[in-house]
Amino acid sequence: MKSKSDHPICELTELQDRPSLSFTLNVKDDVIAGFLVVTAQGFRAYKNSCPHWGVELNWKPDEFFNVDLTHLMCSVHGALFKPDDGECIFGPCVRQRLVPIPITVMDGTVYYSGK
Ligand code: FES
Repeated sequence: MKSKSDHPICELTELQDRPSLSFTLNVKDDVIAGFLVVTAQGFRAYKNSCPHWGVELNWKPDEFFNVDLTHLMCSVHGALFKPDDGECIFGPCVRQRLVPIPITVMDGTVYYSGK
C-alpha cells in the first residue's frame, strides 16, 4: 500500500518504448541515482553504480542493456549483470551484485518504497 515514504519515480507509460530508464530521487538527506529495468519477471531498480569501480554503468542516457537486450552492461569494462537480480556473470566483478532499490508499482506509477 502506498505510504508517506513512497516517492514516485515514473509513469509506466515512460517504459513502454524502452527497457530501462535512469532516475534520481531525493530521499531525506540522500540523493539516489538509479535506474529501472523491465524484465520478464517484472520491474527492477538498481543503484547506478558498478560494483567494480563504483562508476555509473551507462554511457548513454537510459541505456543499460547490452545490444542483445539480454543483460545489463557496464560501459567501462563490459561487465554483464542479470537483469532480474543484478548478479554479475561476466567481467571483473563476477558474482558481485548491483544494489537493488525497493520499488512498488501501483495505479500505473512506479514508486520508491524504501524507508
Ligand atoms: S567499472 Fe564496471 S566493469 Fe569495471
